[in-house]
Amino acid sequence: MKQYKIALLKGDGIGPEIVEQAVKVLDVTAKKFGFAVEYDPADIGGIAIDNYGEPLPQITIDKCKSSDSVLLGAVGGAKWDNQPSGKRPESGLLGIRGALGLFANLRPAVIFEPLKKASPIKDDIIGDNLDIMIVRELTGGIYFGERGRGEDDGMPYAYDTEKYSVYEIERIVRVAFDLAMKRGKKLTSVDKANVLESSRLWRETVNRMAKEYPEVEVNHMYVDNCAMQLVRNPKQFDVIVTSNIFGDILSDEASMISGSIGMLASASLSSGKLGLYEPIHGSAPDIAGKNIANPLATILSVAMMLKYSLGEQQAGQAIENAVSKALETHRTPDIYEDGKIKVSCSEMGDYVCTLI
Ligand code: IPM
Ligand code: MG
Repeated sequence: MKQYKIALLKGDGIGPEIVEQAVKVLDVTAKKFGFAVEYDPADIGGIAIDNYGEPLPQITIDKCKSSDSVLLGAVGGAKWDNQPSGKRPESGLLGIRGALGLFANLRPAVIFEPLKKASPIKDDIIGDNLDIMIVRELTGGIYFGERGRGEDDGMPYAYDTEKYSVYEIERIVRVAFDLAMKRGKKLTSVDKANVLESSRLWRETVNRMAKEYPEVEVNHMYVDNCAMQLVRNPKQFDVIVTSNIFGDILSDEASMISGSIGMLASASLSSGKLGLYEPIHGSAPDIAGKNIANPLATILSVAMMLKYSLGEQQAGQAIENAVSKALETHRTPDIYEDGKIKVSCSEMGDYVCTLI
């Protein structure tokens, strides 16, 4: 029997409760599809600060590197908000992305048909089977560029730098082109080339690479326009490729089209097989421990893990189908609507398990 080792980074806030549901679903799926999963828990974020004095201890990096894949919940919380820069829970997340070389972040914004009413966007704007793939560069740009503080004539200042090399742009854009080839063959590259030099290099690079993909229809869009187009006419998009910070912002926006930020999964990939899978939402400290969080984004992240890292396509598809079916009748509070059964985080996990 095939055996996979998964590093389990539950993190903070709702992290532990949503990861627990995803593990339940993965166990049931493994049984059904004939493979075995072994879990190796490790600390990241606030909990790691409490236990190790730093948000990303070396042991966590080692455990991730010796696993087939990583499943992560979420990091952060008020308790650690006053930590110095570089010692905040979020630095643990950026650190693991960097340490594992996870430069390609795939954030699919899909709408499950039963959830259409939960979306704040009108039905006719969403259309049928909306399916946008946001490809976000994840280990470069302003998140990782030079930063600092200083003082000019007694006036304190701070700065962060957006810097991209051609190599970094090429490798993320290639991921996006390859995905576009497998999908609707349309690629929108999002930048701010009317202002930023790094965006102009990004655009030139995309145009040069487009010659290698003559079948893909390429267009460029400024990020402000893209933010507007996502709610005006989301159907125009197939694959969107963009920088770290623009992808962060646009993927939160795109998640609302699908009804709730509690629905969006993500895969962070390196040039090898190792991937990290996590919901795009945060640790939601306000609802942590109440068993009301929506575990579906994490469950769908497991589906992505099966498809992208473990080569278990059918098992991944089975989870996606089960989630879709569950949504017809069962809802956590964030996506609740009249006539449905309101369930807790763990009840949703249990129900999805019954549908595998
Ligand atoms: C995300 C999050 C992170 C990011 C934060 C928690 C550092 O917002 O994964 O989108 O900005 O990348
Ligand atoms: Mg974000």
